[in-house]
Amino acid sequence: MSGGHAPVMLAEVLATLAPRDGGLYLDGTFGGGGYAQAMLSAAACTLWAIDRDPAAIARGAALAARHPGRLHLIHGSFGSMLALLREAGVQRLDGVVLDLGVSSFQLDDPARGFSFRGDGPLDMRMSAEGPTAADLVNRLGEAELADTLYQLGEERLSRRIAKAVVAARAEAPITTTARLAGIIRAIVPPDRSGIDPATRSFQALRIRVNDELGEISRGLEQAARLLGPGGRLVVVAFHSLEDRLVKRFMVAAAGRAALPSRHDPAGLRDRRPAAWRLLTPRALRPGTAETLANPRARSARLRAIERIGADTGETLA
Ligand SMILES: C[S@@+](CC[C@H](N)C(=O)[O-])C[C@H]1O[C@@H](n2cnc3c(N)ncnc32)[C@H](O)[C@@H]1O
Repeated sequence: MSGGHAPVMLAEVLATLAPRDGGLYLDGTFGGGGYAQAMLSAAACTLWAIDRDPAAIARGAALAARHPGRLHLIHGSFGSMLALLREAGVQRLDGVVLDLGVSSFQLDDPARGFSFRGDGPLDMRMSAEGPTAADLVNRLGEAELADTLYQLGEERLSRRIAKAVVAARAEAPITTTARLAGIIRAIVPPDRSGIDPATRSFQALRIRVNDELGEISRGLEQAARLLGPGGRLVVVAFHSLEDRLVKRFMVAAAGRAALPSRHDPAGLRDRRPAAWRLLTPRALRPGTAETLANPRARSARLRAIERIGADTGETLA
């Protein structure tokens, strides 16, 4: 899709979420609205949609106008979904979908500073708030910068890159994506995969600028609190750090027995079954046709859980 965002694993997301008439859903990463549009067409449901990027919310107005009263857009982070939805009067949901990472709208616009392909300001914020990537690159100590590149980008040459960044910024602050990419490319040799040597470092900075891992942890916990019996949580992740968090959370949820009752503190007689069922014992992957048509889909992994049992109002705190 040129000039837009091709929704990843759309058919699998819809089949797993299985929206039904009268249901209440949340798309926590509205983006280009691809999932939202498909959900609104698939069932006579009501959809709440969150995005931290004001541009995504503004673009969504046209879709909301085409579905009067059925699509409600909220600007904010999905890591605050509980407060955002409660403020809007929503207590319970039948389904939540999260499609992690950035959209093509964000990646392809050099002015947003996510991409090392074009030149632009070193920004990388999905929202328009908080410190930019340039702030981090120019202010972090060498050791902390190296740790960030290693931990969030799995960049093995992190120490050498951090050293070069600190030397370069002593000459002049690093304010553009092209300058940073150039510094990294002078250190990291291209490998046979053809992946740009700056990829891992840019990923690390993006994750840190947007606190993406913290957002995922908060978002998963809060989605679980909002989902009623039969409610489904569907997450599409794009790299191993994201997917590891999602997998751990879902496996733990599906394996966790509810707290023992107060009449049986040891839980010996009364141990209740887990409150969640894993819908994807193994992550779903995109089909070959999709990965050929949309290279961004290649690394996608879809995982999902469903709340089971009677509606006790209990939460997965
Ligand atoms: C991969 S795109 C979603 C694409 C969407 N599923 C579609 O079909 O068009 C991810 C979107 O989620 C937003 N996003 C990422 N992290 C977020 C967060 N923690 N809270 C809210 N929005 C977030 C980004 O701004 C981006 O617009």
